[in-house]
Amino acid sequence: MDSIVIQGGKPLAGEVTVSGSKNAALPMICAALLAPGRSSFYDVPDLADIRTLGRLLSHMGARVQRADGARRGPTEHAHTLHVDASEIGRPEAPYELVKTMRASVLVLGPLVARFGRARVSLPGGCAIGARPIDQHLKGLAALGANIELAHGYVEATAKRLKGARVIFDLPTVTGTENLMMAAALAEGCTTLENCAREPEIEALGRTLSGMGAEISGAGTSVITIIGVEQLQAADATVVPDRIEAGTLLCAAVAAGGDVLVRRAPAAHLEAAIAKLREAGASISPEGDGLRVRAPSRPEAVDLITAPFPGFPTDLQAQLMACLCVARGASRVVETIFENRFMHVQELLRMGADITVDGHTAVVRGVERLEGAQVMATDLRASASLVVAGLRAEGDTTVGRVYHLDRGYESLESKLTGLGARIRRVRGSA
Ligand code: EPU
Repeated sequence: MDSIVIQGGKPLAGEVTVSGSKNAALPMICAALLAPGRSSFYDVPDLADIRTLGRLLSHMGARVQRADGARRGPTEHAHTLHVDASEIGRPEAPYELVKTMRASVLVLGPLVARFGRARVSLPGGCAIGARPIDQHLKGLAALGANIELAHGYVEATAKRLKGARVIFDLPTVTGTENLMMAAALAEGCTTLENCAREPEIEALGRTLSGMGAEISGAGTSVITIIGVEQLQAADATVVPDRIEAGTLLCAAVAAGGDVLVRRAPAAHLEAAIAKLREAGASISPEGDGLRVRAPSRPEAVDLITAPFPGFPTDLQAQLMACLCVARGASRVVETIFENRFMHVQELLRMGADITVDGHTAVVRGVERLEGAQVMATDLRASASLVVAGLRAEGDTTVGRVYHLDRGYESLESKLTGLGARIRRVRGSA
């Protein structure tokens, strides 16, 4: 297993460009299952999760082809992915693939809508929380799917799905996406209420519209879909990754310095930008991105995670890493996932002063963090350790880098480009 070694204490400077969004790309690529023909997706990040989805679609019978190339200009598409879903012989997602990536559940809606049947492994538990999929199943059942759970698999069947009114018990991102895709081919009108409003959902709505779906309201809490008989293959560009952009902003605030984060989607980052400003950072729009100038030491801020447009749970760990060295005490409340403080124990090993009580962490800022050997059990927690390592004195070794590789494209080379002393060590524990 690879690890990343960071020699901290060096401020960051220069420009860095944000890659395409993982969480926007995953549902868009699953939408290719809704139509025969070759779908093309541009700016697809080169990540382990995208490769896992590629393997899953190939397993079903789709033809998946990557056309990679470095971006030479802002309008060029760095990575293109083609998916030909004309022939899907096996509409199923096996346990081996679903267990490595929960987002595999996103194939359920499209498969049952187009082929009338789907067999998808239940994802099981996850490092950050229980993460059930009851809302996905309730929604599909409302659209007339017959849902059976057997041997750890969900088996969904339907002659043709029928439009219905679905009120989610709570806003769920992939649940909303699954139902949007299912309803696109259902007979009649579907209204989805209490939907998640994340920008990735809006992006999926645009992709589906481009395929011929009649869909309105994606990105708001009520989405209306009038089902059509057939869709055409997709041709869509992935939006920049707001969480990667936010992570880079946090990295600059923790390490210190002056960085231009190109392609940072400011409109999707308002809550995070507000918190970083409160912490003393200067953040201003520049060209297609955001320039961040770090304070010499952050100020303490309180934050509570919430569904979009609130502060994203996917940036909680990275901002907490900044707050470890803040002047004063910060209160961080995690409301989305019940077990998303896995980074705390590791940050403590770097000299942070944090106490956790249930969903609340109190972070008392210390003057300095010290490098240490650390590891994390999920993607964003790993990113927070890199952020902390950039600030810490001495060497920090972050183990289990495969978590980072799931969701950050070339993070260490991007940070190296900003002057960080960071390198990957192949094959170590
Ligand atoms: N929930 C249920 N029942 C459901 C679905 C969700 O109780 O059927 C609960 C969850 O347990 C959680 C809350 O609802 O407490 C919100 O979960 P949501 O369904 O919105 O999360 P998700 O769709 O599984 C996506 C992202 C996550 C991100 C969350 C929250 C993708 C592929 N994943 O997950 O991203 O944290 O939304 O914004 O879009 C990551 O990228 O590191 C990551 C974990």
